[in-house]
Amino acid sequence: MSTWANLGLQDSASPLMEQLIFFHDHALLILVMITVLVGYLMFMLFFNNYVNRFLLHGQLIEMIWTILPAIILLFIAFPSLRLLYLLDEINEPSVTLKSIGHQWYWSYEYSDFNDIEFDSYMIPTNELSTDGFRLLDVDNRIVLPMNSQIRILVTAADVIHSWTIPALGVKVDGTPGRLNQTNFFMNRPGLFYGQCSEICGANHSFMPIVIESVPTNYFIKWISN
Ligand code: CUA
Repeated sequence: MSTWANLGLQDSASPLMEQLIFFHDHALLILVMITVLVGYLMFMLFFNNYVNRFLLHGQLIEMIWTILPAIILLFIAFPSLRLLYLLDEINEPSVTLKSIGHQWYWSYEYSDFNDIEFDSYMIPTNELSTDGFRLLDVDNRIVLPMNSQIRILVTAADVIHSWTIPALGVKVDGTPGRLNQTNFFMNRPGLFYGQCSEICGANHSFMPIVIESVPTNYFIKWISN
């Protein structure tokens, strides 16, 4: 999870988030190179005393500085498209979780099993235990197995919500009347925190998401209880 003074991305807990971080760093590197080059050129212009009275056109240089940025942009566009299609890939999920956004809480359904469904509310600050995280912990956590492909179906009952877990690279809007699908694969155990990321109303900031990533046998034990 994110703690104070963490300005970057959270540590990834899934292969897709790892790829997203790689892409972020790659794009940032290109951005820094362009900024440094353009900044250097603009700075050097202040000290330029050369004047060419007969300069009217320079087709070669204009050709170069039009095509070169286009080629540089391709180096961002192709990895971006690769990631986009990779995020959409559903790899035979072993568990499906349905999450429904309400004003203002999430409710979950494990449709693979015998009607397991529950609501998940944020724990208010005055009821929080000493080791709890303010505005992030919930009364009923989602429990899911690690090292297996999980499908998430997101929808909403009233207004638009967004089911977002930064460490897993998941952000899907829950829209009334629609069913959105995504998937992820958790490669380590732990607690993964998220928040609703669609401005859904007055208590928008009070509908967090908590996933408990556990080994498969723990999950089976939990689901059979
Ligand atoms: Cu639900 Cu913001």
